[in-house]
Amino acid sequence: MKAMTYRQYGGPEVVTLSEVDKPTPKPSEVLIRILATTVTTGDYRARSLNMPAGFGLIGRLVFGLTGPRQPILGTELAGIVEAVGADVINFNPGDEVIAFTGVAYGSHAEYRTMPEDGTIALKPGNLSFEEAASLSFGAMTALPFLRDKAGIKAGDSVLVVGASGAVGTAAVQIARHFGAEVTGVTSTSNLELVAALGAHRVIDYTKTDFATTGNNWDIIIDTTGTVSFDRCDKSLRPGGRLVAIQGSFAQTLGIGKPSKASGKTVIAGYVPARPEDLRYIARLASTGEVKPVVDRVYPLEEAAQAHAYVDTGRKRGSVVLTVGNRQWETTARLRTRTSKDEPPHLIPVAVR
Ligand SMILES: NC(=O)c1ccc[n+]([C@@H]2O[C@H](COP(=O)([O-])OP(=O)(O)OC[C@H]3O[C@@H](n4cnc5c(N)ncnc54)[C@H](OP(=O)(O)O)[C@@H]3O)[C@@H](O)[C@H]2O)c1
Repeated sequence: MKAMTYRQYGGPEVVTLSEVDKPTPKPSEVLIRILATTVTTGDYRARSLNMPAGFGLIGRLVFGLTGPRQPILGTELAGIVEAVGADVINFNPGDEVIAFTGVAYGSHAEYRTMPEDGTIALKPGNLSFEEAASLSFGAMTALPFLRDKAGIKAGDSVLVVGASGAVGTAAVQIARHFGAEVTGVTSTSNLELVAALGAHRVIDYTKTDFATTGNNWDIIIDTTGTVSFDRCDKSLRPGGRLVAIQGSFAQTLGIGKPSKASGKTVIAGYVPARPEDLRYIARLASTGEVKPVVDRVYPLEEAAQAHAYVDTGRKRGSVVLTVGNRQWETTARLRTRTSKDEPPHLIPVAVR
């Protein structure tokens, strides 16, 4: 089968088209024909080994000391079940599914196997494969950080710094889902997008520093690595939590965390990928509470160009790779979304 692989760490050019063995499902696995996948900041980290401060060695231990252990990147996918192992009872050939492969990667290919009790769920019927493929990376991060680690509840006020990225767009919508009052921080060109996702207020960071507005929040979720506790201390209410999605190793270890007496907390680290969370997110997408944001679409074979765009740090939501010869369908679906109920930020792009 075709797959985009990388055999050394480096820039986008290390990602090249290869022919690799098609996987065979074990008795408890399903074989998925992938129709769409994404290039995420997770792929950028694994490809470049450019890690948040202090995580350099850990990155090598996770991804491979001398070179990549898993040559196929890709943390999320949407596709169709092609075959199931003898013990599989919950999926059938022909089922349209999404899967979050997370740190196991392996989605930038024509096929991927998944254990049936893994992070795989039926694709929401209202989403195209491109949208469905874009659903999990951001939401599988934002949901457990907001719900399980920060304990978000109705009425909380939440500031999302980096509200236009994959994690940020999911965080805005998930915080709204939990009944929070949401403020999004982004640059001028993305203000409209973040407001359309449901943010009650938006702050243009090129004009205003949220920390000098005199406002304060119960939760500040920072996806950009620009918000230290010192910077946002006065912007956190009593009991407030700073969720450092791009936290440093020191923050993850709790070094420099606020004193107990302050009543404030810094939350950083890693969240496990749970199948029930993927099903929860798929339900939110099927009711329209969470809408994936698709920025650009590239054919799988142009993954290196997609990586180069992700590397800019300026993408809005997700960058999709289509797999197989279905680009015309992709273009048509994105162009026909003209209803006013549809998000205005699905940008039709020229795909060949
Ligand atoms: N801890 C975890 O488990 C975990 C999981 C997933 C991701 N992450 C990390 O989370 C980070 C974000 O990931 P992502 O996929 O959401 O990134 P992304 O999609 O690449 O984010 C890009 C967005 O960030 C915005 N941005 C850049 N600088 C900004 C600033 N100073 N203020 C406000 N917005 C800014 C950009 O908007 P403008 O163009 O408007 O500036 C752009 O839309 C990455 O470092 C990733 O490694 C951590």
